[in-house]
Amino acid sequence: MTGETGHALRGDYRRMRPDYTVDQEWDAYTPAQHDLWRRLYGRQAALVPRYACDEFRATLETLDYGAGIPRFDAINAKLLPATRWRLVAVPGLVPDLVFFEHLANRRFPVTVWLREPEEFDYIVEPDIFHDFFGHVPMLFNPVFADYMQAYGEGGIKAHALGAIEMLSRLYWYTVEFGLIETPRGLRTYGAGILSSGGEIRYCIESGDPNRLGFDLLRVMQTRYKIDTFQETYFVIRGFDELFAATAPDFAPYYRELRTREPYAPSTVLASDRVYHRGAAPTRAA
Ligand code: PHE
Ligand code: CO
Repeated sequence: MTGETGHALRGDYRRMRPDYTVDQEWDAYTPAQHDLWRRLYGRQAALVPRYACDEFRATLETLDYGAGIPRFDAINAKLLPATRWRLVAVPGLVPDLVFFEHLANRRFPVTVWLREPEEFDYIVEPDIFHDFFGHVPMLFNPVFADYMQAYGEGGIKAHALGAIEMLSRLYWYTVEFGLIETPRGLRTYGAGILSSGGEIRYCIESGDPNRLGFDLLRVMQTRYKIDTFQETYFVIRGFDELFAATAPDFAPYYRELRTREPYAPSTVLASDRVYHRGAAPTRAA
């Protein structure tokens, strides 16, 4: 298995089933790993009230998984009745189509391994802390849960149309790195941010990155970086806006996008709605 960068992936893919699932083998986690989990969880949970959207915060408060690496079975006992989603254990990143098939069937693949202590602040591949802390609380939200399933179905279609690169940008700039406008200012619902000790502050407070109003085709036309904080975040005004924008058939959008050059991650266009810290959005000059 190789990831997006072409490097060998670090998970153990030898004992998986054809759908890439494995047993979690919860008993194999060591006391030191549970301790690392507690420290990761403690740091992020303290940042959530300031930086996470209400939907994430409300669910995290009802989930009590700070004491140690959770058992997926225990989470599923709560998640299934809430939104009919279930977690399945995987060795790490899985091929696109496998990932989409899981999502389309309301199964969320969660990596079984935990990062090493030296990777407390930064990790290249998603581990169990990112997958769990970042993604699982949002799966308890009925509207977001439906969005994730629709995304999986859209992914199967995009795969057939050779359009995964474009659709992946949507996932990146929403599910992983999305910001949302709230009465209290910008907040995040993106898993890549929510599981990061540094980027969760940076995305809201730093003067460096661009914060631009969400626009579906603009997003799907924008490349992203996987090894630094993002240079641009796209801001939705509510989940309704996101779901309305993504409801139409994407096939014509893909055809249109194929005729256009992708934008660099740092590009700001005259047509972008630009958010300035603490102020209402304006058009770029
Ligand atoms: N409507 C999209 C399509 O036809 C599918 C989709 C839904 C994609 C939700 C992303 C999010 O391809
Ligand atoms: Co993720």
